[in-house]
Amino acid sequence: MKTIQVRAEAGDYAVIFGGGALARIGELIEPVRAGGEVYVLSSPRVWRFWGREVMRGLRVRREQVILFDDREMAKRMATVEKICRKLVRARADRQTLIVAVGGGVVGDVAGFAAASYLRGVKIVHVPTTVVAQMDSAIGGKTGVDLPEGKNLVGAFYPPKMVLADPRVLRTLPARQFRAGIYEIIKCGVIDDAELFRFLEREIGSVMRMNERALDWTMERSVRLKASVVSRDEHESGLRQILNFGHTMGHALETATGYKRFLHGEAVAWGMVGAAVIGVGLGRLKESEASRIARLVARCGELPALPKISDEMLTRFISSDKKSRGGRVGWVIPRRVGAVDTGVEVPDWLLGAAWREMPAFFARARAEVRGKRR
Ligand SMILES: NC(=O)c1ccc[n+]([C@@H]2O[C@H](COP(=O)([O-])OP(=O)(O)OC[C@H]3O[C@@H](n4cnc5c(N)ncnc54)[C@H](O)[C@@H]3O)[C@@H](O)[C@H]2O)c1
Ligand SMILES: [Zn+2]
Repeated sequence: MKTIQVRAEAGDYAVIFGGGALARIGELIEPVRAGGEVYVLSSPRVWRFWGREVMRGLRVRREQVILFDDREMAKRMATVEKICRKLVRARADRQTLIVAVGGGVVGDVAGFAAASYLRGVKIVHVPTTVVAQMDSAIGGKTGVDLPEGKNLVGAFYPPKMVLADPRVLRTLPARQFRAGIYEIIKCGVIDDAELFRFLEREIGSVMRMNERALDWTMERSVRLKASVVSRDEHESGLRQILNFGHTMGHALETATGYKRFLHGEAVAWGMVGAAVIGVGLGRLKESEASRIARLVARCGELPALPKISDEMLTRFISSDKKSRGGRVGWVIPRRVGAVDTGVEVPDWLLGAAWREMPAFFARARAEVRGKRR
């Protein structure tokens, strides 16, 4: 078991990472529980797989478990209200410790509920997806969606501890798992060339969930996220590197009504897009862009890009909430392992890259297939 420390204004916290962490949850959270009652927030689906182990570890009664729908559509204020009302009826007081067991949706909703209930009760995250373990559970961003857009209401509310057991990833649907791996590739490109090289050698083992390979990559990405948010908790600078692939990724999700792509898949296309743009700007060597596209291609099939004009794409991109006064700051790689943030991309180049992307990715895919034979 490894302990990775995260710095936060409201108090530092530990990410405990390792196979077998879940079985020891009772003992591990003891220091932060400080005598308070534990309430577990999770979803019916996650609970079906992992509920028994959590109940055994925490010795909670059924009344202390609150399950809620974890589909993205349910990531709403109404769900937070329902949870808070259940907490009142269960007599949860200010000493309460919430334990959130689930993917990013459970973590974001539970985190916001914990931040708001009685003006704040303690929370421990037990993330159960790749994305939740190496991204959403670390860094204190919580929140819900509005009909007008995703993650528009929320709070920075760091947990007291994160307990990430890579063994729980075994029950993830293959597509969800793969979507998470794209975010790990992101970590390699933005700040960890060694992780990227490891994936170039071992992506096959990672995709087969070989324990050694998966644990190594997961731990490496957890450390990267922990280090970035420790240095820039409130996203005033460095933390922006985590948005690599997300500028175009978000636009693709919006353009397709959040139906065609899982978030990670949209980010995968977004990384290919940013790489092609990087080449167009003369900031990135074509051979490095191809490495990124090839590694993405080796993970499996991606849903096809939507057939939209480059004007439409430009419009979706400039309406992203992270653009400042219509100016979009792109994250563009310099090479594998280093990126620049706040890069301006002229519309004509964005259009050209958008038209070139399918062929660029098809070439990478053909190279990968050729090698396999
Ligand atoms: N707060 C942040 O910093 C941050 C960062 C990234 C993403 N997010 C948010 O996270 C959400 C996406 O999270 P996600 O990718 O973890 O997906 P998710 O929470 O939507 O979960 C995906 C599916 O997997 C199921 N599941 C979860 N764990 C499982 C397990 N171990 N076995 C079997 N099934 C399991 C869930 O029930 C769900 O059906 C989005 O709402 C996104 O906005 C937040
Ligand atoms: Zn993401």
